[in-house]
Amino acid sequence: MLITNIGELVTNAPRDAVSVASPGPFDAIADAAVVMDAGLVVWTGPASQAPAADELVDAGGRAVLPGFVDSHAHLVFAGERGDEFAARMAGLPYSAGGIRSTVAATRAASDAELRANLAKLGREMLTQGTTTFECKSGYGLTVPDEARSLALAAEVTAEVTYLGAHVVPPEFDDAAAGYVDLVCGDMLAACAQYARWVDVFCERGAFGPDEARAVLRAGESAGLQARVHANQLGPGPGVQVAVEAEAASADHCTFLSDADVDALASSGGTVATLLPAVEFSTRQPYPEARRLLAAGVTVAIASDCNPGSSFTSSMPLCVALAVREMRMTTTEAVWAATAGGAHALRRSDVGHLGVGARADVIMLDAPSHSYLAYRPGVPLIAAVWRDGVQVA
Ligand code: NIG
Ligand code: FE
Repeated sequence: MLITNIGELVTNAPRDAVSVASPGPFDAIADAAVVMDAGLVVWTGPASQAPAADELVDAGGRAVLPGFVDSHAHLVFAGERGDEFAARMAGLPYSAGGIRSTVAATRAASDAELRANLAKLGREMLTQGTTTFECKSGYGLTVPDEARSLALAAEVTAEVTYLGAHVVPPEFDDAAAGYVDLVCGDMLAACAQYARWVDVFCERGAFGPDEARAVLRAGESAGLQARVHANQLGPGPGVQVAVEAEAASADHCTFLSDADVDALASSGGTVATLLPAVEFSTRQPYPEARRLLAAGVTVAIASDCNPGSSFTSSMPLCVALAVREMRMTTTEAVWAATAGGAHALRRSDVGHLGVGARADVIMLDAPSHSYLAYRPGVPLIAAVWRDGVQVA
């Protein structure tokens, strides 16, 4: 299939054309075309040189991009926290305490309810251009509820993350150490089969650095790779723990010391995943993206879609916030939401449209990627292909 007459084709193509090692820097072709076959990108270049194809889509000068890669989302939950949000907008601060109300609702929900909510959010994401997403557990916090959360997540994505260490559940109020043992022991044993990643909320009020290290180590010995919720609510050890564990990503990064920035910059591949919809929804200061970029840190943007701190599934909103509030350029933000997310998930097949990449492609109802920030809040996703098949 050929999409031609593309005003701007964002490719982020790997610089090393021989192997699809990982997405390259932001890259775009004007007046372009892309050919997809058997679910993969097989050709990109100037429209005037496009090869013939069985099927042709005329983009009419519109922009075509890789689908968004949303590398951080909590989609397995029941209930909602609209009142908590309203109270926050009336002046109350965000605290992780609200997580417990979602835990209670999630435990009480049937598999069918959780599956329906997950499907609804997945569909929302897809129609807004997200073709790859990560999904965490973390609202079950018992062995069976974490295991079923992950089994449900695995039905809808390959990027499944075990977050038994989200918060200490109420029944362990006086026995946090016992809960960490459970997370590292029986719960992990029941969960590892469904997950690729292990995550921990390393924050005051959640888990300290030693607990976080224990969780990541246990996860790794069960074959899971590390990612960390780090430095969201205040300065702390999360980023250092993440880098030390060679985590794929340190997420949030809202409060960073110079040492944290240095650690990320000299890490062997720990991405800083910024979640600007959280700061939007919690009225916290935005992460200092420019400081990270100036230091050479790889930056991703993700939604953190969850019912508490960020109830949006919209990567276009995250791009607009990254540009407007974190002073990223439009190319930096779009790269971070596509190729950056792929790096954060250690995926070489998504986040770019180099030859050999998955044909996960979105077309905007706009001539340039910059419209994602220039026209905030406007539904700009005109079409979505996943594995070369049009799905929206
Ligand atoms: O990533 N920080 C911890 N977890 C979520 C918030 C979850 C919630 O408030 O329900 C986050 O922001
Ligand atoms: Fe999160």
